[in-house]
Amino acid sequence: MTAYLEGKNIVVTGAGNGIGRAIALGCAGAGANVVVADYGVSLAGADPSSEVAEAVAAEIEEAGGTAVAVAADISTMQGGSSVVQAAVDAWGSIDGVVCSAGILRERMIFNMSEEEFDDVVRVHLKGHFTVYKHASAIMRKQETGGSLVGITSGAFTGSTSQCNYSAAKGGVISLTKSAALALRRYGINANCIAPSAKTRMSENVPFEIEAGAPEDVAPMAVFLLSDAAQDITAQVYTVIGPRISVWAQFGEVRTMFAPDQGGWTPQGIEESLPRTIGVEEHPTMALLAQQAAQRQASEGSG
Ligand SMILES: NC(=O)c1ccc[n+]([C@@H]2O[C@H](COP(=O)([O-])OP(=O)(O)OC[C@H]3O[C@@H](n4cnc5c(N)ncnc54)[C@H](O)[C@@H]3O)[C@@H](O)[C@H]2O)c1
Repeated sequence: MTAYLEGKNIVVTGAGNGIGRAIALGCAGAGANVVVADYGVSLAGADPSSEVAEAVAAEIEEAGGTAVAVAADISTMQGGSSVVQAAVDAWGSIDGVVCSAGILRERMIFNMSEEEFDDVVRVHLKGHFTVYKHASAIMRKQETGGSLVGITSGAFTGSTSQCNYSAAKGGVISLTKSAALALRRYGINANCIAPSAKTRMSENVPFEIEAGAPEDVAPMAVFLLSDAAQDITAQVYTVIGPRISVWAQFGEVRTMFAPDQGGWTPQGIEESLPRTIGVEEHPTMALLAQQAAQRQASEGSG
């Protein structure tokens, strides 16, 4: 990764642990000056501490890189502004951001509290907005382009026990694509990575997931932040171990029109829909049906 980001000033949120830490180290290894932004909280978002960010900044400095630590809450406008400003104060400009800060509050939707919903959406979704907003405002004035990298999750397609997380991660994609469209004319690109890696966050997932190491995610982040990826924007890339996949853009796949004589009636839709546009099967729904059938079969035989 040597020299891919030489002379660039990059902010990485959530850089104190897991994937954010690996990306911060990767950026520094590629020649960037790095703001290690981390509030130092527990997996659920409690007990902030500045030690986590300081430890990773020290690790970068020990390896011969340049870093500053900021222990701010990026889910606030003030926090988002302060992590971006830290790069400008230390090195004079900002060239890229990666938003890896995140928390988890798992609960079935019917048991989830308002606070559990709001906190997760605030840290993930608003935590991207606060950083993108302040970074893009400065990048636009600098007239030197720039790069925004969001961290989403395959869970954006729906998650049985994490509706807050899934909704926030879907929002991260929409926010990032909106930023890509708005900022194209200023030479700023915006893309998402959907990682899966063994960290404290993925540790408690109650089923087998495909997961790599946090370090596997860093090269893609470095590439997207670099001049080599300037023309790549509005994309979502899965990064898991050695696998990198690009996601399709969302779009309508089939259409039906009302008959000539007038608009649709519910009955007309009932009759036409199954033989025209039909439904698009959700892959997880199929998996749940398969698991239910297996459960039933084993209960029947037991
Ligand atoms: N680990 C996976 O398999 C996986 C899968 C899909 C998506 N992701 C996403 O990758 C990102 C990183 O996840 P991870 O597994 O490395 O998690 P992690 O828990 O190891 O690290 C997250 C970091 O974010 C920091 N943080 C939390 N709230 C913050 C706030 N308000 N302000 C600043 N910092 C805050 C924490 O202190 C922590 O250091 C998250 O957005 C997560 O949703 C992870």
